[in-house]
Amino acid sequence: ARKIIIDTDPGQDDAVAILLALASPEEIELLGITAVAGNVPLSLTGVNARKVCELADRPDVLVYAGCDAPIKRPLHTAEHVHGKTGLDGPEPPLPEPVMPLQDKHGVDFIIDTLRTEPAGSVTLCPMGPLTNIATAFKKAPDIVERVQEIVLMGGAYFEVGNITPAAEFNIWVDPEASDIVFKSGVPIVVMPLDVTHKVLCTPPRIEAIRELGSKVGIGVAEMIDFFERFDTEKYGSDGGPLHDPCVIAYLLKPDLFSGRHINVEIETQSELTLGMTVADWWRVTDRTANALFIGDVDAQGFFDLLTERLARL
Ligand code: BDR
Ligand code: CA
Repeated sequence: ARKIIIDTDPGQDDAVAILLALASPEEIELLGITAVAGNVPLSLTGVNARKVCELADRPDVLVYAGCDAPIKRPLHTAEHVHGKTGLDGPEPPLPEPVMPLQDKHGVDFIIDTLRTEPAGSVTLCPMGPLTNIATAFKKAPDIVERVQEIVLMGGAYFEVGNITPAAEFNIWVDPEASDIVFKSGVPIVVMPLDVTHKVLCTPPRIEAIRELGSKVGIGVAEMIDFFERFDTEKYGSDGGPLHDPCVIAYLLKPDLFSGRHINVEIETQSELTLGMTVADWWRVTDRTANALFIGDVDAQGFFDLLTERLARL
């Protein structure tokens, strides 16, 4: 199984991604979860990550709290999408977790894990702002070359922005961190809005998950119901996008996805386009490719995989 660390700001879609990983032990060995400030403050993302593990009856998962604010900017959160708790939706709400947060800082967990596991054997899976990953790379530059791959949700090209006209939320919240990660030299796979906006939670897809009838199936359906109202009400789309689970689905079934190896730079200066992923999709520069930028997905294949895996929990 592939060893991964999930770095996350749950978030209903983060929650589904964590569950998909926990449902797939043959392919994925989850070494730990590091929480980061993003959709909601760190105090809540650390709680939410543990609520999700307990929903899957996995109180043994190691959950760490990482950074509570971007590297050099104030934190911007997204309660307008995810609700006050970050995990609004389930009724009654998911219970307060009993399992502990680990004592170690999330950044130190990332560093220590990369130093102790064999070089090239650990994949990082960021699903929130890139603060924890960039902070670890700054603090311990020796770990950078030991990372197998980074598979992250963030950025946009044709679909442009969801938090400003030019930028996607995860990249925009901490553009300096994003810049560090994209310049790191680690092989990166990017799940931008261009692909996550194709993974739409239509009513039949949500019902298929609810009909699993399990605690997990019903909890996920209720989380998605809440999360997707934002897009369906605001944009009149057929369903809300399920962003972060694309990261885990890629590890399980990369053939569902296609993209291009291209250069991606992060805008860190301009007020107007801060956090933009300037993706050289048409290869009009000679800048070195630093990312596999995913552009397309077999959406029904994705939902079949997700539903089949959630049924195992
Ligand atoms: C990303 O931002 C968050 O709101 C979601 O959890 C996802 O990681 C989408 O832009
Ligand atoms: Ca997220």
